[in-house]
Amino acid sequence: MKSVAVVLAVFLAYQCLAVRHPGPLVQPGGLSLSRTLSKPSKVGAMDLCSFCVDFAHNAIQTIGEAILEGGLTKGCQGLCAIVGNKTDSKAVELACDTLCVAVGFDEFVHAFQKADVDPIYYCELLNQCPIVDNGDATTTLFDVNPKSGPQGDFIFDVEYETKNGTGTGELLLLIDTVDQWPVGGSFLNEPQAPGKYGMKMTLHAVPNGGESFMPGDYNATLQICNGQCMSKHPHSKIYDTKKTNFTITPSD
Ligand SMILES: *[C@@H]1O[C@H](CO)[C@@H](O)[C@H](O)[C@H]1NC(C)=O
Ligand SMILES: *[C@@H]1O[C@H](CO)[C@@H](O)[C@H](O)[C@H]1NC(C)=O
Ligand SMILES: *[C@@H]1O[C@H](CO)[C@@H](O)[C@H](O)[C@H]1NC(C)=O
Ligand SMILES: *[C@@H]1O[C@H](CO)[C@@H](O)[C@H](O)[C@H]1NC(C)=O
Repeated sequence: MKSVAVVLAVFLAYQCLAVRHPGPLVQPGGLSLSRTLSKPSKVGAMDLCSFCVDFAHNAIQTIGEAILEGGLTKGCQGLCAIVGNKTDSKAVELACDTLCVAVGFDEFVHAFQKADVDPIYYCELLNQCPIVDNGDATTTLFDVNPKSGPQGDFIFDVEYETKNGTGTGELLLLIDTVDQWPVGGSFLNEPQAPGKYGMKMTLHAVPNGGESFMPGDYNATLQICNGQCMSKHPHSKIYDTKKTNFTITPSD
């Protein structure tokens, strides 16, 4: 599952999520997304929700494997040692320990079994992310600049409005590419107060290992969601979906 993690350059300490939907798989090739917000949603203290989601995004697959390998009998430390080994990351192991000890071993494992591979729902079950179910968001702008140009950076402009505020969710950008290689990225969108929000996302459309970004028409889809987009779990809903397109022209 590591191979579907999206490579994102993250600004403003925002977290990114690998896209693990049953729908289109998002491949690492070609996409370098960054986001700048015109109105930061949150400032201040240690952010438990993004800490948890970041951890779950890196490790949720591995927790399942660790449980299967006998981690259930070993308590937080034992289980997290296996997770650390599997992810080959001391940082993930530490995050695992921190979270597991904070919520308790039984709850940690139980939430995993309930959440399957949905990091946001997992962290909601662990009370690390707020749940807001009457939220909404309507996209008021989804545009790309340039509309047409050679390989290089394409900047997506996004604006949306929420009347009730939003729940802990995800902002997902998917690109249908000419060679059918799926490209996309998503960001954790923490609960926002009612208001208007805007951000820019940059697609670094240059060939690399995976996607070739050959000349042609590309469609882009934006989804703003409560929970993980397309998740079947509770507290999940697609608030809004918008599409736009752009053209990569032959370079000379
Ligand atoms: C982690 O990996 C090391 C080296 O492969 C091994 O010696 C150790 O037993 C492993 N620990 C766990 C908890 O799996
Ligand atoms: C906003 O919240 C109210 C009260 O829960 C609800 O009735 C309404 O449908 C919500 N609006 C939207 C746009 O979801
Ligand atoms: C983009 O959408 C148009 C119209 O729906 C479709 O004809 C075209 O094949 C799509 N392009 C890609 C690359 O998916
Ligand atoms: C691109 O979007 C515009 C309007 O948003 C639409 O008219 C046009 O057909 C689309 N082009 C393709 C190739 O899908």
